[in-house]
Amino acid sequence: MEDLGGKLLMPGMIDAHVHYPQTDIIASPASGLLPWLNTYTFPEEGCFDDPEYATEVAGFFLDTLLAGGTTTAAVYCTVHPQSADAFFAQSEKRNMRMIAGKVMMDRHAPDFLLDTAESVAAQSETLIQRWHGKGRQLYALMPRFAPTSTDAQLRLTGELAAAYPDVFIQSHVAENRDEIKWALELFPGSRSYLDVYERFGLLRERAVYGHGIWFEDEDCQRMVQTGAVAALCPTSNRFLGSGLFDFLGADKARMPLAMATDMGGGTSFSLLQTMNELHKVARMGGTHLSVVRMFYLATLGGARALKLDGMIGSFAPGMEADFIALDPQATPLLARRIARTGTLEELLFAYAMLGGAQAVGGTWIAGKRFVPRGAS
Ligand code: GUN
Ligand code: ZN
Repeated sequence: MEDLGGKLLMPGMIDAHVHYPQTDIIASPASGLLPWLNTYTFPEEGCFDDPEYATEVAGFFLDTLLAGGTTTAAVYCTVHPQSADAFFAQSEKRNMRMIAGKVMMDRHAPDFLLDTAESVAAQSETLIQRWHGKGRQLYALMPRFAPTSTDAQLRLTGELAAAYPDVFIQSHVAENRDEIKWALELFPGSRSYLDVYERFGLLRERAVYGHGIWFEDEDCQRMVQTGAVAALCPTSNRFLGSGLFDFLGADKARMPLAMATDMGGGTSFSLLQTMNELHKVARMGGTHLSVVRMFYLATLGGARALKLDGMIGSFAPGMEADFIALDPQATPLLARRIARTGTLEELLFAYAMLGGAQAVGGTWIAGKRFVPRGAS
């Protein structure tokens, strides 16, 4: 029996949008989203046609998530089906509750990263049958973002989404002004960028859209009415200079939200570090985002938005026992600051502002302690 005296136990955290193939290009300098994709992201993603390469990166990625207290994530793979197979196999080995899928792109990317509308249908069905509901694995359909899919590919994705209603969908939306302009040029007649996805049947429950920085009021309302979720990606949005999420607008509409790192556009694997930046982003927009709400968004709130709250996100009876222990002694400064806290709010705030991955003193997956590599 392990003595966890003094540590704070909480449910494992949920990262609603992250890219495992970008692990080794985190912190790559670029002048914005589109140059960053072309210079660093696409060349690196090309390596994931090699299952051995993909397996090694997936293992490191998952261990790094766990060490930082994240036990569930919605994870982009690459366009190669084998990148998804490698990821799910590593996740299954660790018995983690993960959402993942093959990325779809049939235009506006290097040739070595393109699939076709037709190949996507067969590949996705094979992967859904192989992985969705196998142990703790869950599948997501992932058109990368509207500009890299043709109408035909998005239409097919919508058909798959209708045929498999309990499968997830994830994509990017309204992240960057140049990207929005491009999307609207490619899909003329759309009311907005989000509307492109809606027209192809891709707004529904279990659909997770990263960023949504530049949503119009009607977009927020459509998200609410369809049950789609916005994944907040503050470290990425600031790193790539994409913009600041509009909490006032989102809250006015009561839009379902979840927290996300968006690593490698994001600069950290840690959701505690992400809280640090999220709080400041909200502040810049005139909102005081309470720390209790940030912890909620990273746990039960995220689970509810993803319709996974019957499995994860809380300590309610019957939940899968994914949990973490935060360590007040993790760093000398954290220990000193926590010694001065008087309320739960102050305590959580200290973890959010000063904690990061190093504040996580233990992670349990389905009740079993995760042992970091090199520690056994
Ligand atoms: N838009 C399309 N692809 C990506 C990606 O990989 N990262 C981010 N942040 N935005 C994107
Ligand atoms: Zn992303």
